[in-house]
Amino acid sequence: GLPEYVKIVEVGPRDGLQNEKVIVPTDIKIEFINQLSQTGLSVIEVTSFVSSRWVPQMADHTEVMKGIQQHPGVRYPVLTPNLQGFHRAVAAGATEIAVFGAASESFSKKNINCSIEESMEKFEEVVKSASHMNIPARGYVSCALGCPYEGSIATQKVTEVSKRLYGMGCYEISLGDTIGVGTPGSMKRMLESVMKEIPPRALAVHCHDTYGQALANILTALQMGINVVDSAVSGLGGCPYAKGASGNVATEDLIYMLNGLGLKTGVNLYKVLEAGDFICKAVNKTTNSKVAQASFNA
Ligand code: HMG
Ligand code: MG
Repeated sequence: GLPEYVKIVEVGPRDGLQNEKVIVPTDIKIEFINQLSQTGLSVIEVTSFVSSRWVPQMADHTEVMKGIQQHPGVRYPVLTPNLQGFHRAVAAGATEIAVFGAASESFSKKNINCSIEESMEKFEEVVKSASHMNIPARGYVSCALGCPYEGSIATQKVTEVSKRLYGMGCYEISLGDTIGVGTPGSMKRMLESVMKEIPPRALAVHCHDTYGQALANILTALQMGINVVDSAVSGLGGCPYAKGASGNVATEDLIYMLNGLGLKTGVNLYKVLEAGDFICKAVNKTTNSKVAQASFNA
């Protein structure tokens, strides 16, 4: 059956903005995050401590991390691919991190410039250092339902990488449909495999909506006992190393569906709509959220 409560991990400030060509001013990012902090969201992924040569949009990670007003009860994780990123994140005040691996060798190379095995060795160092400082670490597995370079990915590979991340101490594994090609069918098969090794309470799904399947895929995951879902306000998002991938599932649309199912999120849809409107105006985009389109046209 469906879970009673669903935790939403808002990735808009990170995944949502990382692929924007025009650099968003730091004060706009800070205001965006401060608005999101007022919505009832309990997790807001703030930025990435990656190389600014690789992802110029995240170059202001330290200023953003230091500039936001941290709301009690909200956690503010950041991405850290290696120890260098981890140390910078800690220096900027981060108290929660995420490492990000992939179930595809080609994607791993393109995204973080190393093999899956090399990435796992780096993540082990990061997660170990984090644990010594009582900093919780989350683990992402990209290409869980397909890869932009290799096409379909074996569920066994997704399971193996997830197990490795869980085993090294990641408290939650976020399974990423990086390019939004999954369907409820492939989501179900992938989860059946991963859930043989990892309990559903330690899993999350991270769906991009390229093929319009994200909400259906999320509902499938909820029906299988998963109750953590990543989303981005306005359906912003995309990975610079996954060409053609569109935005994340829109937080507004996710909340609308969860409200309709009678599941608790603790998040105020109206306030999320306002934050979405703010960031869309600031980056001069029209929203990808159907719920926002419907609400603002009403
Ligand atoms: P590299 O070039 O292999 O790194 O990049 P390196 O260790 O060989 O060092 C080369 C240079 O980079 C050095 O500088 C380092 O100091 C610097 P130099 O001496 O030449 O001046 N460097 C760094 N600088 C800042 N922060 C760091 C860092 N590490 C090294 N942490 C690296 C490796 C991982 C850094 C690079 O490939 C990178 O930054 N990649 C970023 C990829 C990224 O952010 N992708 C998007 C996020 S993942 C995603 O969106 C998917 C997700 O949403 C889930 C899903 O949808 O599936 C999570
Ligand atoms: Mg993503």
